[in-house]
Amino acid sequence: MTRIAIILGSTRPGRNGEAVARWVHEIAAARGDADFELVDIAEYRLPHLDEAAPPSLGQYAHEHTKAWAAKIASFDGYVFVTPEYNHSTSGALKNAIDFLYGEWNDKAAGFVSYGSAGGTRAVEHLRLVMGELQVADVRNQVALSLFTDFTDFATFTPAERHTAAVEALLDQVIAWSRALASLRTDAKEVVRRNTERVQSGGDFALFEELFADDFVDHTPQPGTTPDKDGVRVLYHALRSAFPDFSAKIHWQTVDGDVVTTYKTYSGTHRGEFLGLAATGEHVEFETVDAMRVVDGRITEHWGVANLYSVLQQVGALK
Ligand SMILES: Cc1cc2nc3c(=O)[nH]c(=O)nc-3n(C[C@H](O)[C@H](O)[C@H](O)COP(=O)(O)O)c2cc1C
Repeated sequence: MTRIAIILGSTRPGRNGEAVARWVHEIAAARGDADFELVDIAEYRLPHLDEAAPPSLGQYAHEHTKAWAAKIASFDGYVFVTPEYNHSTSGALKNAIDFLYGEWNDKAAGFVSYGSAGGTRAVEHLRLVMGELQVADVRNQVALSLFTDFTDFATFTPAERHTAAVEALLDQVIAWSRALASLRTDAKEVVRRNTERVQSGGDFALFEELFADDFVDHTPQPGTTPDKDGVRVLYHALRSAFPDFSAKIHWQTVDGDVVTTYKTYSGTHRGEFLGLAATGEHVEFETVDAMRVVDGRITEHWGVANLYSVLQQVGALK
């Protein structure tokens, strides 16, 4: 079932946002065409962004980031409930969004906002942020006025017409969340993300997501086990031997659920590799490999890499 988070984006004591988010969740939960969960950013107690590595690498050091990343990764789409502070969203919501990257990608989002002008300026800012995070934001939105949808600016008393607006917003978020789910599980796309984001980018949080726990490697490299642990060890070894390790995909073909990829790896030899101490040489080598992808996860691998040419390039073969 499609999973949608209703993200409560204000943390202020006495916040109006809580009543708004609960109201959205209540309307959503009565639908039955998706699973909805209210996610309160306050519960994650995120400090100001304190991760050293860019979020796009997915190398999270802190438990609070890992918990937040696991929660956000578990959804197909989001409804952000945002206040308007100084013509933008809350700093707390922007900070919580900034903590992550890959967890948001290729998903859908909609907005419920509130403020003296319906919070619309906060949503316009959030739409710019969504673009950078590769989140598809739907057109419909719900704009609640502090003057007409709250009594004394503090007790939430929404006009009746907003219920239909929430339903229309959810219709769009669910439809786009479903459509984008197929992009995330497309076999070629899964292998491309592994090559570009894990192998080239060092995103090991994504590695954990992309490889099935019962993964089998039919052609493990010498010294590595034929399982998920073995690939993790190999990928780390490649990144420490070649810190700028990157891959260029030339072509991919799909046969059923097996994706075959021809690519060239390159990097600078700065650490031990195949028992050879760092030479500082820039090396390039071709690989052809096949990966079986089931339900968006890599379950099997067969591959040949031209390691002979690596030995030549680092001067180990005369
Ligand atoms: C720091 C701050 C700045 C605000 N700036 C705006 C604003 O620019 N435009 C607006 O319509 N309302 C503004 N407001 C009013 C809020 O939208 C309103 O207080 C709302 O209830 C805040 O959400 P919360 O109660 O969930 O924290 C601001 C409120 C705060 C606390």
